[in-house]
Amino acid sequence: MNDLAVQFISLPKILDNRGNLSFVEELSHVPFKIKRTYWIYDVPGGETRGGHSYKTNQELIIALSGSFTVVTNDGTKEEQFVLNRSYVGLYVPKGVWRHMENFSTNSCALVLASEVYDEGDYERDFSTFIKSK
Ligand code: TYD
Repeated sequence: MNDLAVQFISLPKILDNRGNLSFVEELSHVPFKIKRTYWIYDVPGGETRGGHSYKTNQELIIALSGSFTVVTNDGTKEEQFVLNRSYVGLYVPKGVWRHMENFSTNSCALVLASEVYDEGDYERDFSTFIKSK
């Protein structure tokens, strides 16, 4: 399952007059066990986040509210993915450079990760990343 490409994953959406509900289960909606979640919020206008790849970590990125763009580079092509639905995640496998930009006011990015935080798992130098491809 580690060879999957960057792709949108549609999550279950339970429609209800009382409000909608979505959920994610590990090894079902995402191809990994979820060891960590973190979220990015209160991003000032014009700021970018990310700007790195991971050697091992896989992620699912969801715009729980608002919208933002994830720009990915797998070493062969750059792609842009707009996230603006709380029932759609972007799967980003290991070894893919990414940054996030164009955050709307009050946006919240929820990230489900396959690994616990480890600075040693980051590649933060783009030229080193490209040379490794
Ligand atoms: P970083 O991953 O560089 O943020 P970005 O989302 O912009 O790529 O993380 C920013 C800081 O937060 C850095 O000092 C590491 C710390 N951090 C943790 O301690 N735990 C985590 O799970 C994450 C994602 C970051």
